[in-house]
Amino acid sequence: MADILIKNVHIIDPGNNTDNVGDIFIKNGVFADPETAEGNVEIINGAGLKAAPGLVDLHVHLRDPGQTDKEDIISGCKAAAAGGVTSLLAMPNTEPTVDSPETVRYILDKAQQADAHVYVVGSVTKGLNGHEPTDIEALYEAGISALSDDGRPVLDTSLMVAAMQKAAALGMPVTAHCEDPYLAGGKVNEGTVSMQLGVKGMPRAAEDAGTARELALAAAYGLPVHICHVSTATSANMIRDAKKAGVAVTAETAPHYLMLTEDELLKKDADYRMNPPLRTEQDRLAMIEALRDGTIDAIATDHAPHTPREKADFVNAPNGSIGMETSFAAAYTVLVKGGVMSESELIQKMSCNPAGILGIEAGTMYIGAPADLFLYKEEEWIVDPEKLHGKSKNTPFKGRTLAAKVKLTICGGKVVFKDE
Ligand code: DOR
Repeated sequence: MADILIKNVHIIDPGNNTDNVGDIFIKNGVFADPETAEGNVEIINGAGLKAAPGLVDLHVHLRDPGQTDKEDIISGCKAAAAGGVTSLLAMPNTEPTVDSPETVRYILDKAQQADAHVYVVGSVTKGLNGHEPTDIEALYEAGISALSDDGRPVLDTSLMVAAMQKAAALGMPVTAHCEDPYLAGGKVNEGTVSMQLGVKGMPRAAEDAGTARELALAAAYGLPVHICHVSTATSANMIRDAKKAGVAVTAETAPHYLMLTEDELLKKDADYRMNPPLRTEQDRLAMIEALRDGTIDAIATDHAPHTPREKADFVNAPNGSIGMETSFAAAYTVLVKGGVMSESELIQKMSCNPAGILGIEAGTMYIGAPADLFLYKEEEWIVDPEKLHGKSKNTPFKGRTLAAKVKLTICGGKVVFKDE
């Protein structure tokens, strides 16, 4: 692996309070002082480009083991690299579920060859069945970095409390898919669009009831919780109030909730169907405000690959859309071009904050840190699903013009993506 010197690049590194043009030197896979660059060094001309710490995506479905026709660890990490993501948290709803040390080890072993750092979530219950607890200590010994029954809530509330207690003792986050299973189960957001389409709706109250439960647990037991893919104004308001009251809650939303609304569903295209569903314009604006004011800490993708065959049937297709290759570009378009926040603030929400929530050494480019970064440029491009690098093409941003493009990604000192 050659040493790399990136010259004359605009460095945006909020963790180091840096927002200026300079050089970046990478030696033996870590950031080093550019003054010390000498000998056989690969030079990259950074003029006209911005450099930021590699993105940390807290919500990714890699589908491996078990559903590798949709994605696998290698292809998913190629998609990550193309989006500037250098660390990702892989959700446990694989086949089998990540409920045994063997499956944790399988993922971590395979990820050694991948183009991003993969962190593994262990499930709280066996097979995500909601009532039989996993051996959390054994999963931790095998290398998990977080706990979740993502894809669904932990049905048995007492097991959620036990998971929060154990996770806190072990120094890991618990990430919560908030949904009341008795209210949930529709196809699109419940409201005018579900009525127009004549399909069962997913009420906002299903998500809000789930959010309320997790906040109540965090408050009552004084334990941290991380709320996944917030999509409703009410959930954002509850999280804001909980934070004000000192509850140890962190939260994420996804780029599709920032850019799109339920109106997309009138196209009857299942690539726009995910759980939680695209909501109303009022909810979309509430997500933007919650990110701006710090109620929501992070942007994560919920990258959820499904094959074109599965997505062909609007009503019966599984929920989920891919997102890692477009997340920075879409968020930049809405938040930076839209005048909501600065590039530095956006990078904080996509790199520093998620790194802090996961407790990993990422999200900043200080000397000695692992050399994870990406170069980007403000440049318009149209999302063509066929040009994306993952196995599945179910992007809700297809055909959209986005305002920033990832040009090059370096993970652990190695160039893992170049925009040709
Ligand atoms: O839309 C979704 N897809 N939401 C989830 O919670 C799970 C995910 C998946 O695994 O496909």
